[in-house]
Amino acid sequence: MSQQHLKSQFRIFRSEIEFALKRCVPGPNKKPAILHRAMRYSLLAGGKRIRPILCLAAAETCGGDHSRALPLACAVECVHTYSLIHDDLPCMDDDDFRRGRPTNHKVFGEAVAVLAGDALLTAAFALTASAPAARRFGPADFTAELASAAGSLNLIAGQTEDIQAEGAKKTLSLKALRSIHERKTGALIRSSLVLGAMSADASASKIERLSQFGRLLGLAFQVVDDVLDVTECCEVLGKTPGKDARKGKTTYPALLGLDGAKNEACRLTEAALEALAPLGAQAWFLRKLTEQLLERRN
Ligand code: IPE
Ligand code: IPE
Ligand code: MG
Ligand code: MG
Ligand code: MG
Repeated sequence: MSQQHLKSQFRIFRSEIEFALKRCVPGPNKKPAILHRAMRYSLLAGGKRIRPILCLAAAETCGGDHSRALPLACAVECVHTYSLIHDDLPCMDDDDFRRGRPTNHKVFGEAVAVLAGDALLTAAFALTASAPAARRFGPADFTAELASAAGSLNLIAGQTEDIQAEGAKKTLSLKALRSIHERKTGALIRSSLVLGAMSADASASKIERLSQFGRLLGLAFQVVDDVLDVTECCEVLGKTPGKDARKGKTTYPALLGLDGAKNEACRLTEAALEALAPLGAQAWFLRKLTEQLLERRN
């Protein structure tokens, strides 16, 4: 597939996601206006939209119509945005910039930022609960899948252990760090793909393939995030670099050195591509996207 084809598919997915996201939370004047403005401030701040794009792409890869996956794609972006708002709070990573603008709590205050995060998480489950059913999977299955990825055994488990390990006297082992990354970031990326596949009524073996792929891609994504925290500047990243070291986080560059971390990201990307191979030509978009995510600068 040509670079041109990739770009136009990417643009189509992205514009459909932006259009749908604007409509999936109440308008800025709906009371309480400060809450809805805070939700929209972070949700519509123009992130990369990787998770919803993966969701739509997984649906197409499985032979489905990506428009049926759109509510699920919005749901994963709502969960992701809530996790970022809370991740940036002073009691967590204490960050001032996100997506190229001041963080939610810097603009709306901590209490509203917490509540905006809560409301986005809740909105996500309203979306999965009213998404169109496929033959094999319905709203209860979508909701259970997302709840598992976002819950206390996955995303929140990873975030809890990330915070608890911060500034620890003993650095984490590579195995422990990998487990944190798999849960805080990998789980939602994996779930985005699985939800897209479910919306397309995919077979159990296709879902398992995409799940394996998502686990590896999700891990590679967080290793690259750790690398970019060391190598990029604020203008490119849209968030403050160098925070991991200042916060005393164990990261891949801290454990393996910068080159070691970059090699690990390459290795994981290769493994993710291998997991995709059995899906053949239909997975062309996911393959190209995976390659690009390794080269990303923000
Ligand atoms: C940032 O995610 C947090 C991680 C889990 C690494 P993204 O890099 O996808 O952030 P946005 O959505 O583009 O802002
Ligand atoms: C964030 O990881 C993971 C979640 C929000 C679930 P990071 O703390 O590394 O993300 P950034 O670097 O702040 O985007
Ligand atoms: Mg964090
Ligand atoms: Mg952070
Ligand atoms: Mg980071």
